[in-house]
This record gives sequence, structure tokens and C-alpha cells, in this order.
Amino acid sequence: MARARVQFICQNCGTVHARWAGKCDGCGAWNTLVEEGTSSGIGSGPQAASRKARKGRAVALTTLSGDIEDAPRITTGIGELDRVTGGGFVRGSALLVGGDPGIGKSTLLTQAAAALAERGHRIVYVSGEEAVAQIRLRAQRLHVAQQPVELAAETNVEDILATIEDGKRPDLVILDSIQTLWTDMADSAPGTVTQVRASAQAMIRYAKSTGAAVVLVGHVTKEGQIAGPRVVEHMVDGVLYFEGEGGHHYRILRTVKNRFGPTDEIGVFEMGDKGLREVSNPSELFLGERSAAAPGAAVFAGMEGTRPVLVEIQALVAPSPLGTPRRAVVGWDSARLSMVLAVLEAHCGVRFATHDVYLNVAGGYRISEPAADLAVAAALVSSLTGLALPADCVYFGEISLSGAVRPVAHAASRLKEAEKLGFAQAVMPPGNEDGSGAIAARSARPEALAELVARIAG
Ligand code: TYD
Ligand code: MG
Repeated sequence: MARARVQFICQNCGTVHARWAGKCDGCGAWNTLVEEGTSSGIGSGPQAASRKARKGRAVALTTLSGDIEDAPRITTGIGELDRVTGGGFVRGSALLVGGDPGIGKSTLLTQAAAALAERGHRIVYVSGEEAVAQIRLRAQRLHVAQQPVELAAETNVEDILATIEDGKRPDLVILDSIQTLWTDMADSAPGTVTQVRASAQAMIRYAKSTGAAVVLVGHVTKEGQIAGPRVVEHMVDGVLYFEGEGGHHYRILRTVKNRFGPTDEIGVFEMGDKGLREVSNPSELFLGERSAAAPGAAVFAGMEGTRPVLVEIQALVAPSPLGTPRRAVVGWDSARLSMVLAVLEAHCGVRFATHDVYLNVAGGYRISEPAADLAVAAALVSSLTGLALPADCVYFGEISLSGAVRPVAHAASRLKEAEKLGFAQAVMPPGNEDGSGAIAARSARPEALAELVARIAG
């Protein structure tokens, strides 16, 4: 008989180690190794022995042409959600929805389930965390308790599959959450990487074989990674992140991966006492808290996927008592801030060496576009000089290391959104001539960052 083998699996990245160590070789995380029985997970459980190989069939790619349309989808009618998934849940696919505990994942999916049930789809909501009565309570609070969503409180994958297969084939199965699932096929404890992976695999296989859409909910650790489910990310067809900032009521649903649609879309929601409400004009929300023009504030005309989003960038530049001044950033890339500071120093003669620099994107929003460079530079110079920027002006443009202002994509949409929200002028890159309308006519197009600095300071 084979000797029972012990192995240690990193709960963060799934790397298998032969012996215990304090630090994972794979991802460098500390104290994440957990002893996990003898099996390597999938296919080594008690049922594996009876499995016989079956012959499959390979088809020529060319024979598939013609009769395949777009991925078949089930649309929820919740616009913000449908946009992020690329037009609805795709049949036969698996989607992972990750987010911090308490952010509103169950609320979002309950609302989606109810919306779909109302449209006549069969939806099964499996909860491993809450009792059926608790889910009902939430549904009542959301005023969707009358919708025919089927609820189940199960954690064993085989039991879940048996439950689902009873009756008409479901259109959508929601599993809340993946960390609570366990399968007979693996012999580790629920919540371990092996169980999470094996359970997800079983549910993905179910989705592919039946054509039902499967949504897996995953909790994220405080380090910002989907705990355990991170190993699931590459197995599923799509990964969505639900995020929000403490103290703010709005929530952003962001695509991280999508095999059937765009990956740069966001959906914006507001959490209220009756659940999540769609925010179809996020700019108004992010600019809502804006007061009259003050030094250090610049409005960035950004893009999220296909949608323009206006957001205020705030900078505080203050004399530093420290030998090495502080640089702190919230909502933007700190390396990018260092670069903008260096370009301002090297090419525009603006000195920050003896100043602390704080940068904040208003409303707890997060920007990843390089097009924000110009707005950041404007906010920094404005704060340093103490001169407020015009309140009716938006900024966008990428800054190169040479100090040149580079064109960015979607100038016309950015300008249109700014105009819609009452802005009258823009500072934008010279190459972006495609913008039309009154605001484009009143725009400044600096070739170099130094021109912008002279404009603000002069
Ligand atoms: P929940 O969906 O349970 O979060 P998750 O599944 O991501 O852990 O949401 C929990 C939070 O949302 C909780 O703090 C209460 C709040 N909430 C509202 O503010 N309004 C509502 O209508 C609901 C249902 C929840
Ligand atoms: Mg929940």
C-alpha cells in the first residue's frame, strides 16, 4: 500500500511544497502554508479509481463556421451589471465575483437573481454562509421576496448538484461563497486551496456540460487578493471585483478578466437601505462633493472602458519638516506620481524636494489611466503656488519623461461629458484634435508641460 504522503499548500497561490516553510516559494507570502492530506486534489478522491478513459471527438475548426453566433447570454436588465459582464451572464460559463466581506456581493447577486427570475429564468441561489431564512430576510428588505428564486443552504458540491438536477435545468446557479464549498473528490478541509479548486472545477464542469451559467462568490483577504479563490481566477471565464471605500456608499463593479467581453468596464452602484441602486452618471457622484475652486484641486476627464468619468484630483504640497519628505497617494499609482514630480522638477523648474506631497482622488475612486498625468501635474502646481485652477476647466493628457504632453484616446467622449456637466474649457494634448463643440474651441493644447506650469503660475 502506498505510504500516506503529506504536502503543504500555499493558501494564497496554491504552490505545493514537500515540507513546511514559513514563506511560500511561489508568491513570497508568509504563514500561508497549510498541511493538506495525501491527495493532490482533483481526480485522486475515492471515485477516481473507477474512472475509465473515454474516447473524445476532435472537430475541424472550419466545420464550425456559419452556425455559431455570439455567446448566448441571459441579461438581467440591471444596466450597470450587464455592461460589466459584456451584455449579461454567458450560458455555459463560470464567473467569479470577488470582494471584501460585507461589501454587498450577496446583495448584488440576490438582486440579479430576482431580476432574472422575474424574466422567467430558473435561478438557483445556493448559500453556504447563510440560512435560507436569512436570505429570505435580505430579499424582503430588497423587496424581491415574491420572485421565484430557488434557495438552498448547502455546502457539499455533490449535494448541490443533486439538488439542482432536480427539475428543469437552471439558467443560472449562484454559489455564495466558494470558500464554504467542499467536494467528496478531495479530502482537505473546506476553505483550503485544494477544496476550493476541486469544488470550482466541479461547478465549472457542470456549467460547461449543461449550459447553465455559474456564478462563484469569493471573499477577498485584506491584502486585496481573492483568498484561496485566487487559484480559481484562471479556471473561470470571467472575474469581477466588487469594491468600495469605507465611509462611501457607492460600490464599483470592475471586470478583471472576461473571455466574452471587455475587461475595462465598470458598473457603479449606490448602497442604500433598499439595496443597491444603479448610478448611471458616476461623474455627478464623484464631483458631487466638490466645493468652490480651491488650490490643489483639478478635475480629470477620465475614461472607464467606453464611458467617460469625471473625477476630482486633490493635491497638497506643504513644506516638510523631514529630511526625506513624504509622498502619499490614495487612488493613483505612487510610481506614476514620482515620475510626474521628477518631470516637473527636471523640465519645468518646479521644486518639490523640500515639500511633502499628498495626492488624493476624490470619493475614494481609483484611477489607472496615464491620461491623468496632466490633471495631477496641474493639481500639484496649483497647490504649490497656492493659485486655484479655473473651476470650469477639465484636464487630461499623458506626460512623457521628456516633458512633452502626449495625446490620449477618446478625447471627444471626454469633452462631451465635461460639457454635459457644465465645464467650459479643457487643457488637453495637442494631438487630440478630434474634439468638437464649444469646449474644444476654448481648449488649451500645451505642447509641453512647462507651458501648463506657466499658465497656472503666470
Ligand atoms: P452583503 O451583500 O451581505 O455583503 P457580502 O455578501 O459581500 O459579504 O451586504 C452586507 C452589507 O450591506 C451590510 O453591511 C448591510 C448592507 N446593506 C445595506 O446597506 N442595504 C441593504 O439593503 C442590504 C441588503 C445590505
Ligand atoms: Mg455574502
